[in-house]
Amino acid sequence: MNAKRFVPAIMFVLILIAGGSAFADECLDCHKDPAFKVQHPKLFNYYEEFDTSVHGVAGLSCVDCHGGDARTRDLDKAHVDVLKPVKFDQIHVTCGQCHTEQRDAFVTSNHFRILEEDGTAPNCATCHGAMEMDFIFVTRVKSTCLFCHNEESGVLPAVPGKADYVLNKINIIKGYRSFVDTHGKDRELVAELNQAYDKLTADWHEFDLVNVEKDTEKLLGAYRKAKAQAVKDRKK
Ligand code: HEC
Ligand code: HEC
Ligand code: HEC
Ligand code: HEC
Ligand code: HEC
Repeated sequence: MNAKRFVPAIMFVLILIAGGSAFADECLDCHKDPAFKVQHPKLFNYYEEFDTSVHGVAGLSCVDCHGGDARTRDLDKAHVDVLKPVKFDQIHVTCGQCHTEQRDAFVTSNHFRILEEDGTAPNCATCHGAMEMDFIFVTRVKSTCLFCHNEESGVLPAVPGKADYVLNKINIIKGYRSFVDTHGKDRELVAELNQAYDKLTADWHEFDLVNVEKDTEKLLGAYRKAKAQAVKDRKK
């Protein structure tokens, strides 16, 4: 299923549940209290990071990743097992509730196998952060990979350079994509390209860089063509 379309469906249900009942979201209500700035500065930092993250902006709440009981102000009841879903070996399950395509690709990777075996490979939060989650930037990705893949560790030290190379191409695609999305006259083609893009960024999570590079080159070519056509269409 397409995650981008699936996610709004979930959000709709969440909004229905929240809107249809009398309770507010006590997790956010309590954690955003400015008094925490003094009493619990570290905890308040978590709230502030979350608030401006893609998830905060999309209207998620603490309960969406941490569980617990969002209907009570009783500390013990609210916090039942809130750290369980964010333990390193559970994170892919928690994030995968919404990002199904990335999870499905990730669990086929060697990263995942090693993560399960001895915990020395990255989980979703290693690369994306947790509370402060934001769009990925190429420079940050490279340093994330370098953390484990470097000359000193000897663990596939060529990986960060390759990842950087491919991600820069994906960035070029992103530029073409926003132009084609706005100006492309052939909407069927635009939809097809968008689907291929979603698939490519999900396939990333298999960490098969050879295949990802091939697919990236192919999609870049298709977008380059579509952009040229869109420029022509606009001049007509
Ligand atoms: C009435 C205020 C209040 C509510 C409601 C509340 N929290 Fe908290 N939360 C706190 C305080 C205070 C702490 C600091 C730890 C403590 O003293 O228990 C905390 C700590 C936490 C922690 C860190 C726990 C740890 O052991 O390190 C998480 C995660 C958390 N809250 C998530 C949530 C979630 C999810 C909800 C809703 C389901 C929620 N909170 C509801 C006040 C609240
Ligand atoms: C998108 C999912 C997500 C949301 C939403 C989220 N968290 Fe988290 N949170 C995580 C993950 C994942 C970790 C573990 C980070 C790690 O292991 O690097 C974490 C860790 C924490 C911790 C540190 C716990 C510890 O002792 O290690 C606190 C405190 C916390 N979150 C509070 C909150 C509060 C309060 C909210 C709402 C304002 C919230 N979180 C919303 C995913 C989320
Ligand atoms: C309750 C559903 C939900 C959960 C759980 C969730 N997310 Fe998200 N995530 C969203 C929504 C909604 C957006 C913003 C809309 C979108 O997909 O572009 C988003 C956006 C993102 C983005 C930016 C996507 C982009 O288009 O650039 C990343 C990266 C991300 N999430 C990773 C994670 C990770 C890692 C976790 C677990 C720690 C997680 N998410 C947990 C719903 C969720
Ligand atoms: C080893 C690092 C790494 C791990 C582990 C990882 N990702 Fe990613 N993720 C990336 C990179 C790199 C991209 C950037 C590709 C791009 O520009 O979209 C990405 C992109 C994404 C996106 C945005 C796709 C888009 O629309 O652009 C989402 C959502 C996401 N990842 C979720 C997850 C989830 C959920 C997990 C865990 C199951 C996970 N990631 C694990 C590196 C990682
Ligand atoms: C927490 C450590 C860690 C991080 C961070 C990390 N990796 Fe890895 N990665 C590993 C380990 C361990 C292996 C297995 C090495 C081996 O098989 O010898 C691996 C293997 C790989 C492989 C080979 C895949 C295969 O199927 O064998 C690729 C490609 C890869 N990583 C890409 C990346 C990229 C890209 C990033 C950054 C976005 C990244 N890794 C971040 C630990 C990490």
